Amino acid sequence: MDTDGVRFDWHAADQAVLAARAPEPCVVVIFGATGDLAHRKLIPALYNLARDGALPARSVVLGFSRSVPAADTFRAQVQQTTARFSRTQPLDAEVWKGFAGRVDTLAGALDDPKSYASLQERLMHLDEQHGTSGNRLFYLATPPSEFASILGNLQGAGLIAPPTSGAPWTRVVIEKPFGHDLESAKELNRFATSVLDESQIYRIDHYLGKETVQNILVFRFGNSIFEPLWNRKTIDHVQITAAEDIGVERRGRFYDDNGVMRDVVQNHLMQVLALCAMEQPVSFGADEIRDEKAKVLRSLRPITREDVAQQVVRGQYEGYRTEAGVAADSRTPTYVAMKVFIDNWRWTGVPFYLRAGKKLRKRMTEIAFHFQPVPFCLFGRDEVCQLLQPNVLTLRVQPDEGISLQFCSKVPGDDLSVASVNMDFDYARAFDKQPLDAYERLLIDCMRGDATRFARRDAVELAWKFVDPVLQTWDTQEDDVAGPLTEYAPGSDGPAEAAQMLSRDGHRWRPL
Ligand code: BG6
Repeated sequence: MDTDGVRFDWHAADQAVLAARAPEPCVVVIFGATGDLAHRKLIPALYNLARDGALPARSVVLGFSRSVPAADTFRAQVQQTTARFSRTQPLDAEVWKGFAGRVDTLAGALDDPKSYASLQERLMHLDEQHGTSGNRLFYLATPPSEFASILGNLQGAGLIAPPTSGAPWTRVVIEKPFGHDLESAKELNRFATSVLDESQIYRIDHYLGKETVQNILVFRFGNSIFEPLWNRKTIDHVQITAAEDIGVERRGRFYDDNGVMRDVVQNHLMQVLALCAMEQPVSFGADEIRDEKAKVLRSLRPITREDVAQQVVRGQYEGYRTEAGVAADSRTPTYVAMKVFIDNWRWTGVPFYLRAGKKLRKRMTEIAFHFQPVPFCLFGRDEVCQLLQPNVLTLRVQPDEGISLQFCSKVPGDDLSVASVNMDFDYARAFDKQPLDAYERLLIDCMRGDATRFARRDAVELAWKFVDPVLQTWDTQEDDVAGPLTEYAPGSDGPAEAAQMLSRDGHRWRPL
């Protein structure tokens, strides 16, 4: 990007900022080190942080799991996966060599106290060897059923330092889904807060680490022209879409236990909705932002059993039941569309339509604010007035990250004709740089002790409270109450019922 004619080097600036704010060295212990998340996301993210000089030189990564191989073999494995999944390509041999030298492993059973005694010993040894001073980041990248057992064992082995303000610190990152329903989420929260202080718990939702999701707040509160429009007086409805073209891939068993509501809606979509709808916080502090988000979630109008068939559509892609790990008679939805209302002064009466699904036409995550139509068409002829489209402001989360505003323009020529055109901002073109991957951002936040982009206890429970009645109604399996579970063709837009739900309100989904 040019600033006063000078080409600005964003990468160098970023590296300088990251390095200047480098956290204290620590040991990052990854529970579930042989899993997909560790290989595809966590190790590549840590490598990229090392590459950018953000990972303190003395930090260590310790992979822990029952079947993790010896360090040398593990390093060779993660070198391959990092080469494949890293944000930056190709792998920098020099950086990798330095980084890999700080990767170690320990095989142990997640539910065996003896393994935690070995972990304690290894950590003390690593502290001595690398000067990590007792700072620990425990990352729970395991199936959710293991979370409580790991926390209990960490405590039992004396591995959790009290939450003092100085060193050494202990922080625990807990992956989603956080619980299986409201009751189990509350139980997990109760247990986690009996073992740790809330300030040590980092409930991760990687959407909150996405550059474009963070930009929702900057866009809203760093500009004065949008705020007066951001309410029920001008906005007709909002569409939030998280469409994926991929299926369940190698996660059939996990997915079949969870489905789209627990996998994506309870967390990612609820968080995005809260950021879009919240009031301005008193400051950009972690709790100030999280207070405002919680208020939105608290204002959601409950979807009762009687509303489900009208306000929620569920679908399953054809072929899902033959995916590995999926039950042959599975009724787990892989698609959901829902109509949601926020009962507060700003939003009352404005429908927020949410949809998420797998194996759809394309990968697209975006938030589209549809403004009200003009109150009266001045252009006389019906055929011109019919061409007038309401304004749409779209925040594109991925791919093609950017923001666009659709508005009406005169088509050049003698005759009066109109068309919708777009004013477009494209991240990649404007900044000429690649943003940090969400996991990079969130790992470094956690090392710095900044919980702003993590979900707080109340938000997690409020989101469950909202989706739970829908899940329970689905569980009854009575289609007249819960709505049918419709099959949709892979590569399509999802079930026709989702389009019908909007057309009943006179709206249309944005094309995928
Ligand atoms: C994860 C879900 O949280 O988010 C996956 O478990 C989903 O099922 C993924 O594919 C989508 O993330 P992204 O960053 O690709 O939009």
